[in-house]
Amino acid sequence: MNTLIALVLGAVVLVLWVSKAFEHEIQITKERDPAAKSTLEILLLYPGLHAVIWHRLAHFLWKKNVPFFPRFISQIARFFTGIEIHPGAQIGKGLFIDHGMGVVIGETAIVGNDVVLFQGVTLGGTGKETGKRHPTLGDNIVVGAGAKVLGNIEIGPNSYIGANAVVLKNVPSNTTVVGVPGRVTRQEGRKIDILMDHVHVLDPVSQNLRDFHQRIMKLEQKAQISVRDENLDEPDIAA
Ligand SMILES: CC(C)(COP(=O)(O)OP(=O)(O)OC[C@H]1O[C@@H](n2cnc3c(N)ncnc32)[C@H](O)[C@@H]1OP(=O)(O)O)[C@@H](O)C(=O)NCCC(=O)NCCS
Repeated sequence: MNTLIALVLGAVVLVLWVSKAFEHEIQITKERDPAAKSTLEILLLYPGLHAVIWHRLAHFLWKKNVPFFPRFISQIARFFTGIEIHPGAQIGKGLFIDHGMGVVIGETAIVGNDVVLFQGVTLGGTGKETGKRHPTLGDNIVVGAGAKVLGNIEIGPNSYIGANAVVLKNVPSNTTVVGVPGRVTRQEGRKIDILMDHVHVLDPVSQNLRDFHQRIMKLEQKAQISVRDENLDEPDIAA
């Protein structure tokens, strides 16, 4: 009987401590997820929060150069939550991972404050870089379901990465990026449509069409100038 009481008391103390230590994360979850009903529900049923809690412990041990256990904790967390965060990743305050399954965050990734990641997001490497090879996300960024942000690139604060986008280039702040490869559709609140990746996206046919268009415009300008010159040469009949 005494053991049972001690266990219940221990569980209550643990819940209270975690809810205090992760107050900001719980608050952000309530703000970002209309389905989140209570603190207790978030504490017990949100795998994103569980993954962040496990990661804090793993990252602490990683920084102390403890061998094996940081990765071990990260794999335990992955088993229970479906979210794999490498212990080396630097995660800011208020990370909210919604649904979570399939999220992967690489070793040298840096995630700012109040970032939202949906299921299936990868903050990964391209496989071609060494050293810092994962992305850096600023504050207050949302990465949509299934999006892949790859390489040592920077995503500016307040940006939105659309669902299933593949982002390989730096993204400025206050920008929405969608598609494969990522293209900017909105910047500073204005709707625009600029291809981000000029090297890989432009195809020769569209490039030729663009050249033709420019040549036609130049010819039109020349034609207008010569018509205007002809009009100047003509005698003024009215006079
Ligand atoms: C990117 C997103 C935020 C929309 O941003 P927005 O600036 O409001 O974009 P708009 O709706 O004005 O769309 C702009 C263009 O991008 C296209 N677009 C929008 N989202 C897209 C996406 N994820 N992938 C590809 N194209 C997309 C639109 O069709 C539109 O194209 P058009 O200009 O040719 O018509 C949203 O579509 C998105 O992807 N959200 C992620 C949500 C998510 O992951 N939820 C998970 C819930 S479990």
